[in-house]
Amino acid sequence: MDSMHSQSSANELLQAQVHLYHHIFKYINSMSLKCAVQLRIPDIIHSHGKPITLSELVSSLHIHPTKISLVHRFMRMLVFSGFFSTTKVRNPQEEEQEAYDLTPYSKLLVKDHPYCLTPFVDSLLKPDFLTPGYFLGDWFRGNEVTIFEKAHGMAFWEYNDRNPEFNKLFNEAMASDSQMMNLVIRDCKSIFEGVNSLVDVGGGNGSLARIISEAFPHMKCTVLEIPQVIANLEDTKNLNYVGGDMFQHIPSADAIILKLILHGWSDEECLKILKKCKEAISRKGEGGKVIIIDLVINEKKDEHELTETKLLFDMLMMYVSRGKERTEKEWEDLFLKAGFGRYKITPVLGLRSLIEVYP
Ligand SMILES: C[S@@+](CC[C@H](N)C(=O)[O-])C[C@H]1O[C@@H](n2cnc3c(N)ncnc32)[C@H](O)[C@@H]1O
Repeated sequence: MDSMHSQSSANELLQAQVHLYHHIFKYINSMSLKCAVQLRIPDIIHSHGKPITLSELVSSLHIHPTKISLVHRFMRMLVFSGFFSTTKVRNPQEEEQEAYDLTPYSKLLVKDHPYCLTPFVDSLLKPDFLTPGYFLGDWFRGNEVTIFEKAHGMAFWEYNDRNPEFNKLFNEAMASDSQMMNLVIRDCKSIFEGVNSLVDVGGGNGSLARIISEAFPHMKCTVLEIPQVIANLEDTKNLNYVGGDMFQHIPSADAIILKLILHGWSDEECLKILKKCKEAISRKGEGGKVIIIDLVINEKKDEHELTETKLLFDMLMMYVSRGKERTEKEWEDLFLKAGFGRYKITPVLGLRSLIEVYP
């Protein structure tokens, strides 16, 4: 009995070691993904037009000769993570060989893909975002407002202001993320019914507003942004850019849209923004609305990977801001405190939900 008991506790400890090491080394997954994008492996396989053998891949990679024999180990890891698949092909001598193909995940990293998320990989895996991770423990003990500030000596938006290259890459990342809204906006006709004017608050370089303005040509769309973010952007027939501060003034419209804005601010700051939104839609009376595209934490209902991704986003918000990802209850509290009467959550956007908030 005793030896059975010690055998099971030994197994438990060894299993626990696997779990612990898995988490210690998880960052290697992120780094491998970043490297695959840097070496343009998804583009190489895509332009090859069919599954690519190891030797064909190596000949397109432009890597140092001493590293050639290591590529198969790198690819083995990425196949294991689901970014590439393997299949059998025949070479000109009719010999069977293994070849790599794209999967739904790596298709999102092909430059020609309409929903290419490469800018998101490039930006969010920059050392500027990773370094704060080392400061988490010290930050808990210190008095800095954000981990980003602890690491870089200034708040995230100030850092963006002072580092135009970093800011450009970040704006491109957000634009690539917004591009995916193309998948659903046209099917959301009922949400935009009766909306003749709309302001996208903190709309970045206008990626989402452009999609909406093209899908609904009758609608007058405005992007309200920090002046330097929209400095070189040109208005189109029904889309214009306005420099300003959402805490001071939001132009009046039938609807306001906030995509990935409120999760970056504390409850107090969100209340200020939401009250400005309420003022901005007041001329439309009961017909005005605020449309929020953001995460809703729902650990009980969501599957494991979705919940983990939402919790990682929540930690990212802790890194860079005073914001947080919110549960439905937390969202509801905010809306009621800001003076809104009712809301409706529709989880049609994968990671994000569409929340309509009414006066
Ligand atoms: C996380 S990004 C979201 C961008 C865009 N809505 C999207 O989802 O692609 C937050 C945006 O808020 C803008 N922003 C930050 N502070 C702002 C302020 N006080 N007034 C207006 N925009 C602001 C930033 O420049 C940035 O583009």
